[in-house]
Amino acid sequence: MKFAERMSRLGTETAFDVLAEVNELRAKGRSIIALSIGEPACNTAENIKNAAKKALDDNLTHYSASQGIVEFRRVISDYVSRTRGVPFTPEEIVVVPGGKPVLFFCILALLEERDEAIYPNPGYPIYESMINFSGAKAVPLRLREDRKFSFDVKELRSKITDRTRLIIVNSPHNPTGGVIPKQDLHEVAELALKHDLWVLSDEIYTRIVYEGRAESIIQFPGMKERTIILDGHSKTYAMTGWRVGYGAMPKRLAAYVTRLMTNSNSCTATFTQYAGMEAMVGPQESVTAMVEEFRKNRDLVVEGLNRIDGFFCHKPAGAFYAYPNVTRACRKHGFKDSRQMQQFLLHKAGVAVLGQGCFGMRLKEEDQEYIRLSYVSSAQDIKEALRRIETALSNERLVEEFLEEERSRELVK
Ligand SMILES: Cc1ncc(COP(=O)(O)O)c(C=O)c1O
Repeated sequence: MKFAERMSRLGTETAFDVLAEVNELRAKGRSIIALSIGEPACNTAENIKNAAKKALDDNLTHYSASQGIVEFRRVISDYVSRTRGVPFTPEEIVVVPGGKPVLFFCILALLEERDEAIYPNPGYPIYESMINFSGAKAVPLRLREDRKFSFDVKELRSKITDRTRLIIVNSPHNPTGGVIPKQDLHEVAELALKHDLWVLSDEIYTRIVYEGRAESIIQFPGMKERTIILDGHSKTYAMTGWRVGYGAMPKRLAAYVTRLMTNSNSCTATFTQYAGMEAMVGPQESVTAMVEEFRKNRDLVVEGLNRIDGFFCHKPAGAFYAYPNVTRACRKHGFKDSRQMQQFLLHKAGVAVLGQGCFGMRLKEEDQEYIRLSYVSSAQDIKEALRRIETALSNERLVEEFLEEERSRELVK
């Protein structure tokens, strides 16, 4: 049977493949500490769950407006106006099932074949996947470790052509934990104005910052007309499985995104929207407590990683990821890349992490190796994971055994 050609352009999020591998190993009785997962380990707060239960008991089980329940959109528009310092109305908000559909729908609505879109590399893999799927050209912008994983504005300028339509920024950033300095955002805004570009600002980790605040590009004059803010409940309120997110965007684009919702989902689950509303208007202590927990974990993980021979890790300013440079360790132990280290750590140390290959295409100029560790687990698990990594890497016999197995696997292929 024949499939549409566009399916060959659709990428994926390999973190889900690693999750499947972790579950398989656990089912065989192996002890695996998963530092590969991009979600808070804590559970959704009770008040939020109770709001969902009440909505079900009140029979709020029917379709809602495709754009989202208007009271919820009002809560969101007030929140976005307050936190970003730019006024929004409910007409400029679309509620969707998670943060991802904001990307999916806006990219479909904005890009056509031959257009170009610039996105961060390394970055959340769905950017590259969706741009390619739309038929536009995905133009990676390298994030630089020596700029604490921000980008070089000169390099960004050099990537803009007369076909560029969209720039994606993500701050705080997955996978590096970097936060883009306000000055860099200002320069991106100036470029967007000068070249008449859209900016998709992925701010899903905006509440998870450890120093100061994460600035939004929307604050700069002229940006409201050309910016989409992607935000949602998955990370802030530990609600990944509920599927509730939203976009704040110009009214005309909101109408198109709403139409895409009507065509695909009809609406975000109604009782979920009531839970999402309670998350925003109810007590925020659980968010503060979660971020404080992450801060302690961050310090623990960075200190531990920097003790491992051949690792170097910057202190991330936001999100819940550490992104150590492991180039020296890869060379020392003979791993050909961070993916091979990822496999070694999973199978021989019992620790799941993600190699940089999970975060977009490998750039020709990239000669460094990185892995991502998500520090959402308990302090005890993090300490044990660090101990396992250090012990496994200092066991040369174990490394040699793994490399031998890898060579045999290659031969079979
Ligand atoms: C940078 C970034 N944007 C968007 C998302 C999507 O979040 P959601 O699970 O709400 O779709 C994620 C999830 O990992 C992410 O890391």
